[in-house]
Amino acid sequence: MSSISYLNGSFLPGNEARISPLDRGFIFGDGIYEVIPAYGGKLFRLDEHLKRLDDNLAAVRIKQPLTNEAWTSVLNEVVARNQPIHGSEQSIYLQVTRGVAERDHGFPDDHVEPTLFITSSALKPLPASIAEQGVAAITYEDIRWKNCHIKSISLLGNILLRQHAYDNDAVEAILIRDGEVTEGAASNLFALIDDVLITPPKGPLLLPGITRDLILELAQQHHIPTCETFITPAQLINAEEIWLTSSTKEILPVTTLDGAAVGNGKPGKLWQQMTQHYQAYKQQLRNA
Ligand code: PDD
Repeated sequence: MSSISYLNGSFLPGNEARISPLDRGFIFGDGIYEVIPAYGGKLFRLDEHLKRLDDNLAAVRIKQPLTNEAWTSVLNEVVARNQPIHGSEQSIYLQVTRGVAERDHGFPDDHVEPTLFITSSALKPLPASIAEQGVAAITYEDIRWKNCHIKSISLLGNILLRQHAYDNDAVEAILIRDGEVTEGAASNLFALIDDVLITPPKGPLLLPGITRDLILELAQQHHIPTCETFITPAQLINAEEIWLTSSTKEILPVTTLDGAAVGNGKPGKLWQQMTQHYQAYKQQLRNA
């Protein structure tokens, strides 16, 4: 059964939704997106996702189409309408493009309204093998643009990098720019080095992940030392633990990097602890 989508004010089956081929999202990749999980039918860190969306729309000068109250209401309705189809654990995808106009690189007139699309898919539990074996990652040059803090729908660089990882029997490409590790093709990065949980600092070289922020918060609450700083690939390969974080994959323990074992080659102790804190946080949301 097709997911129920929301397109420019109407709810309809996803396979009936239609947009113009002149939409600037289709023509230029001119838009912003968010991926928001729902647990027990409740949207995860919604205020944080809406804040990042608002920052991103402002950064690329696309009109904010809805108030926060309207976003909250429409997103909750998408979750509710998809509950009979996908259950209560969903991944909500939303995108706002600059709208439909004759193809021209310059922005269209002010009267052109943004296109707003929201859909849902089932959020599947992560395979048990992850906790037992972890995942493989490779390092690769960060070939993307220099506004990686913007959650742009123009994802060709990210797609090519992720596929490069798959082609090399890895789940993610960990990106290196000018000798420093930035993030994954669709995830943020953490490394445990000398008992400090390190993650690269926010800025134009990486997406300010909602999951990343929550992990820093949980670390602080549980007195785990953290540091936001760049590290080199040489430091990374000697890390005791490496994690990749995102809304849909939560916290992935990387146990093989470029074919070599990370730490003892098994998901680490701190990963186990943090995963418990993270699952407890999700459970609180379900029970709220
Ligand atoms: N991607 N960095 C990049 C480049 C990403 O695309 C993502 C998420 C993250 C993690 O952000 P968050 O914790 O807010 O999900 C970091 C989403 C899930 C996607 O493109 O599907």
